[in-house]
Amino acid sequence: MYVDVLLGLQWGDEGKGKVVDFIADQYDVVCRFQGGPNAGHTIIIGDKKYVLHTIPSGVFRSNILNVVGNGVVLDPITFKRELANLDTAGIEYRSRLYISKKAHLILPTHRLLDAASEASKGTSKIGSTLKGIGPTYMDKTGRNGLRVGDIFLHDFQQKYQTLKEKHLGLLALYPEVDFDLEGEEAKWFESLETLRSLNSINCEYFLNDLLKQGKKILAEGAQGSMLDIDYGTYPYVTSSNTVSAGVCSGLGVPPSSIREVIGIAKAYCTRVGGGPFPTEQENETGETLRRIGAEFGATTGRPRRCGWIDIPQLKYTIMLNGVTQIVVTKLDVLNDFENIKVGVSYEYDGATSEELPFDLCTTGVDVNYVDYAGWNKELGVTDFDALPANAHDYILELERLLDTRISIISTGPERSQLIVR
Ligand code: GDP
Ligand code: IMO
Ligand code: MG
Repeated sequence: MYVDVLLGLQWGDEGKGKVVDFIADQYDVVCRFQGGPNAGHTIIIGDKKYVLHTIPSGVFRSNILNVVGNGVVLDPITFKRELANLDTAGIEYRSRLYISKKAHLILPTHRLLDAASEASKGTSKIGSTLKGIGPTYMDKTGRNGLRVGDIFLHDFQQKYQTLKEKHLGLLALYPEVDFDLEGEEAKWFESLETLRSLNSINCEYFLNDLLKQGKKILAEGAQGSMLDIDYGTYPYVTSSNTVSAGVCSGLGVPPSSIREVIGIAKAYCTRVGGGPFPTEQENETGETLRRIGAEFGATTGRPRRCGWIDIPQLKYTIMLNGVTQIVVTKLDVLNDFENIKVGVSYEYDGATSEELPFDLCTTGVDVNYVDYAGWNKELGVTDFDALPANAHDYILELERLLDTRISIISTGPERSQLIVR
């Protein structure tokens, strides 16, 4: 019937996993369309916590199909580990999990190249998750990559060797890094057996057939729009199109099938890794946000950089994605703040602007803030009108500034801690 999209409007970790898991019961299928195991999507159900990297966040809803689309890059090793976690948790997935044959494979040497490339950059490193994302997408666009469908071909071993040799040649250009290539290769080939045992599909036919049958599909973004390869804070970005445009190329569905674009943002802002972040608070405020928000990477465990919400930045990503509704998460993290700041405009090149400059890396911006009074109260409510007055007004103010409806507010990490308006 249609495809709805849910994606991050900031630099990732907006709480996509939690919200996808919650709204998944309104859909028949949940699909990942880009990224790979650089993602870490946390879902908390009761006292159980799960972190998904490549598997779509619909997997905990027993009647929902989950598709890993062609735009995704997949590491058989981490994928197998994720499946093992689901096995341990008693989650049945075999009949509901489908993988595009056109998704590209992350080889052990892609991870090695990622590490070597970062080591060569010194202090200007991207802060990659070291999952091999950049090198794998480079091989995809360079037309050298290996795809999931290739693992069924008789000459797969030969194809693997050819690509590995190319990588070993490239590695000679980089500083040496510590990496057990032989050990990782052994694990990789063993993990391919698991991958071969799963449902692999021509994702474009599979999803278009489902659309014809009247099914509802949710496309789950990874990373955030500010990490998009074209529109993010280049070069401090990931290597895929994280914006809504990536859904069509990443799943093989037409633009006309897309209905709602649900953008998700924290009530403040975080970033992990290098690169510009105009509203970052490298002070006590930032530390408090990190502590209360438990802002440590779900994939790498690194502390996340924290700061205030940034309206020009959000308006930019709302524009890029064609956002039709917003989900605000982690409102509860602001409970103890006397004063909450909202970045409303930038100063650069001698003028006030609401537009992001060409390159935030070279044009530093000063942010103009507006202060809002905090609410100093717990939020334990599921009714919007029952929120403390200042929390209620903060949401209405964001809605006004962003000129977009805020449809869901998340007030805690657990599945049920949500206000649906
Ligand atoms: P994702 O990558 O967008 O799925 O987000 P992550 O899982 O990497 O990071 C979000 C973190 O915030 C996770 O630890 C979630 O459990 C947690 N979280 C999600 N929503 C809320 C919320 O409303 N309040 C609080 N306190 N934590 C939340
Ligand atoms: P989710 O889906 C936050 C960041 C990395 C680094 C940059 C490039 O959980 O929101 P990469 O490994 O992709 O080459 O790293 O992008 N990054 C993320 N930051 N959340 C993510 O995913 C991220 N995936 C990548 O920290 O700065
Ligand atoms: Mg994450």
